[in-house]
Amino acid sequence: MRFHKDKEKVIIIDFGSQVTKLIARRIRELGVYSEIITPKELKKITNFQNIKGIILSGGPSTVTGKKYESVPKQIFDKKIPILGICYGLQLIAKLFRGKIKPSNKRREFGRAILLKKKSSLLTVKFFNSTNSVWMSHEDAVIKLPKNFKTIASTKDSKLTIIENSKKKIYGVQFHPEVTHTKNGKQIFKNFLFLICKIKKKWNVSSQKKRLIDAIKQKVRKDKVICALSGGVDSSVTALLINKAIKKNLICIMVDTGLMRKNEFEYTYRMFKKKYKLNLKLINSSRLFLQKLKNISDPEKKRKIIGKLFIKIFETEAKKYKNIKFLAQGTLYPDIIESKSSTGSKTSKIKSHHNVGGLPKKMKLKLLEPLKEFFKDEVRILGKSLGLDKKINFKHPFPGPGLGIRIIGDVTPERIKILQEADDIFIKELVNKGLYEKIWQAYAALLPIKTVGVMGDSRTYENICLLRAVISEDGMTADYFNFPKFFLDSISNKIINNVKGINRVVYDITSKPPSTIELE
Ligand code: XMP
Repeated sequence: MRFHKDKEKVIIIDFGSQVTKLIARRIRELGVYSEIITPKELKKITNFQNIKGIILSGGPSTVTGKKYESVPKQIFDKKIPILGICYGLQLIAKLFRGKIKPSNKRREFGRAILLKKKSSLLTVKFFNSTNSVWMSHEDAVIKLPKNFKTIASTKDSKLTIIENSKKKIYGVQFHPEVTHTKNGKQIFKNFLFLICKIKKKWNVSSQKKRLIDAIKQKVRKDKVICALSGGVDSSVTALLINKAIKKNLICIMVDTGLMRKNEFEYTYRMFKKKYKLNLKLINSSRLFLQKLKNISDPEKKRKIIGKLFIKIFETEAKKYKNIKFLAQGTLYPDIIESKSSTGSKTSKIKSHHNVGGLPKKMKLKLLEPLKEFFKDEVRILGKSLGLDKKINFKHPFPGPGLGIRIIGDVTPERIKILQEADDIFIKELVNKGLYEKIWQAYAALLPIKTVGVMGDSRTYENICLLRAVISEDGMTADYFNFPKFFLDSISNKIINNVKGINRVVYDITSKPPSTIELE
């Protein structure tokens, strides 16, 4: 297994659903350690002693064809409770000789209302006044497998929750892991504590010592280099490693000139003065601006910024002798995404660039202490390491920075205008107690000017777009529903205080169909 051989855990077999990560998160939120593995990895497991429960995820494939992803039937004989979700339920039904129908008539997408048929340990305290669950499936189980019972149905699908309580095998057609399923967490609670009878033992802050010891053991007397951007991931990575090896950690901060207002200075001061890191500052903002001159294509911008960053970082790193490790703030979702269970390649929407990523040529060993954690868990670690609150709870910020929030040409004037508007927006969110309710918020500049009137004069200025979204992990997002008075006042504040903007618009699209960033 990947991280913890000897820790009691629940394993999640990933059949390629977009929301498998959320299953692991829900379980960890309940105080139980969970890992996501592929069906192939499952086949390699020989010792099931510490596996207290198995969850089969949803996925895009169908068990009605000749070839489909499956699990060895023996896992059902190990007396380990099993819960199938969506495709997982259909797979259980297939393996136990139920009947599954591929039917476009039976498609169920979106909300559905559950009708309770029987009681089950899985549904204790689950049914409530709405019984509203989230569906996303085309195939449906139409004949119950042998020795299974129906616990709940919906109007369109008779077998929505099924169980074989004797063998402790359960299946749900809906997605309890998404927040659209009211009370979905209760399904996991029941599965973990009533059915698997597992104890709450997972606690992120208690991992700090283990992580620091592991770094000490791995690095010993060698040197580590780390690109510090001031985002949560690289900050927690740096603090952890610093606790373990102190002066043998060299952090490099590259000023691209594309950060939010005062952000670079704040981060630098914090890490240099408060945390006393061995920190080197490289000011490359001129170079970035020069390379971005007259470039308005989003992909070109991303590539220029990404490549230049790596080049500068490599040049700096070469100045130090005897470096063996490159530290990166890789998180668990990055690891899961890079080992797709189906091997399918999803189409590229944007070339994401991560600060600190990629200098393969440097032939350094990777040190990724956060690779088993989700972002919210990293924040808990950050808190226990004493990381400054402003940094620890900062909204995510893309590697290419304001370069992709200034649509069209990136010029020093436009950077300044945007930094001012963004600063006003973010400060207002903090003042009104909204910042922590929002997953990510920012201002952007659109590439067109429009006419306005201020006093008695005509203006011809930029449009500032505001975006604020709520999300679990950035994969999907909804726009934040601001009260009208907030929109009124923020529009006024920006126009009255930022020269160069005479119109403010608020983006009311979700992801999908839009993305969170504009470029
Ligand atoms: P999109 O725009 O793809 O963004 O919906 C999803 C999340 O990813 C962030 N993002 C990036 N993060 N390097 C990063 O480290 C990048 O190149 C990058 N592009 C987008 C974005 O801010 C949002 O949180």
